[in-house]
Amino acid sequence: MNFSRAIGRMAADTSGVWDVHDEACALKANGEDIILFSIGDPDLPTLDITVDHAIASLKAGRTHYSPGAGEKPLRQAIADIESRASGRATAIDQIVIHPGGTNAIFTTLSCFLDEGDDIVIPTPMYVGYQGLLAAVGANVVHVPLDANDNFSLDVDAVKKAFTDRTRVLFLNTPGNPCGNFIGEEQLRELAAFCLERRVWIVCDEVYSMITFGRRHVSLLKAAASLENVVVIDALSKSHSMTGWRMGWTVSSQDTARRILAFASATIFGCCQFVQDAAAFALQNDEEYMRAIADEYRVRRDYALERINAIPGLSANRPGAGMFIMLDVSQVAPDGLEFAQGLLRHGKVSVLPGVAFGETTRQFVRLSLTHPVHIMSKAFDRIERFAGSRLAGSTEQEARNGDMR
Ligand SMILES: Cc1ncc(COP(=O)(O)O)c(C=O)c1O
Repeated sequence: MNFSRAIGRMAADTSGVWDVHDEACALKANGEDIILFSIGDPDLPTLDITVDHAIASLKAGRTHYSPGAGEKPLRQAIADIESRASGRATAIDQIVIHPGGTNAIFTTLSCFLDEGDDIVIPTPMYVGYQGLLAAVGANVVHVPLDANDNFSLDVDAVKKAFTDRTRVLFLNTPGNPCGNFIGEEQLRELAAFCLERRVWIVCDEVYSMITFGRRHVSLLKAAASLENVVVIDALSKSHSMTGWRMGWTVSSQDTARRILAFASATIFGCCQFVQDAAAFALQNDEEYMRAIADEYRVRRDYALERINAIPGLSANRPGAGMFIMLDVSQVAPDGLEFAQGLLRHGKVSVLPGVAFGETTRQFVRLSLTHPVHIMSKAFDRIERFAGSRLAGSTEQEARNGDMR
């Protein structure tokens, strides 16, 4: 039987980047003492009052079809938040609700791209984009971030990557996996550059609420016009609600109508009681948001302290999000080999950096999804493993020296 070209592209991933994680999960299920640092699912629970609200909503019979664009109270709560954050009055009909950030991205890209169109994306990029890009059949043009400058974006390099086939510039700030920011000026300049060329600029901001000191600036604030702009956000990470599947798009009203047409046809409305809980969460989250960001900051600081004390390892300093990129180039040929060895000998699973693109082949990504006492155990193992690799390569060098 024949399958579609889209599924052919989507099923063709042979990179094996999830192999280490899959093996780690299988070992863990077999009772082995594995510490999973390889996936970005927060260990922190959804707030109790949000869960209680969802239960009350379920019991009140909120189990029916919902409007395609989403429930009004949730869209209003989001419009209020976006208006406050961007200083730009945002109306409810600029917001469309989607079942998770992933679906919001898929819907948005489906509205803008035909097979073979160019999409420009800085890399390293979130691993989940690959399947979405394969689904829409876009031709991906990567622009490397500067690994020597905390993964900063070079605006001129982005501009140079544009061709007459470019339909979308896709940005992610704060970024996964590097916790890097794209600054307000850079966003403004790129939005104007795109508008001039009638190119869409889409910004994934799902880590906007987990920042450490520096404040996130939304493309909604930076762009002079929303004519070519879509911003995507979700509750998955910020509110530890990955399994609830709740995300949204913000755009001009005209663009929102197209996004709504696609979402209505393919999703036909999101779960009512989940939307009720999401609206409640967004209106009662101030303390929780502070606590979550503080907890990730404590974990980031602990991880950096440990990494900086391990010879042969170094890391960038993420300003946001829940990940750290570990440079393993001094102790392993690449991140994949390091991740395989660490799982085998140290029982810690990390994600090889090549999952995010060539720029980070020499890195592995660690998720900050364990409390410090578990991180401490994991870093003891990482330290032993890196130490053994360093000792091994020193012995090898000495042997090579003898032979010379
Ligand atoms: C940058 C980025 N965008 C989108 C997503 C997907 O979000 P969701 O779980 O809401 O689909 C993730 C998840 O890890 C992410 O890191």
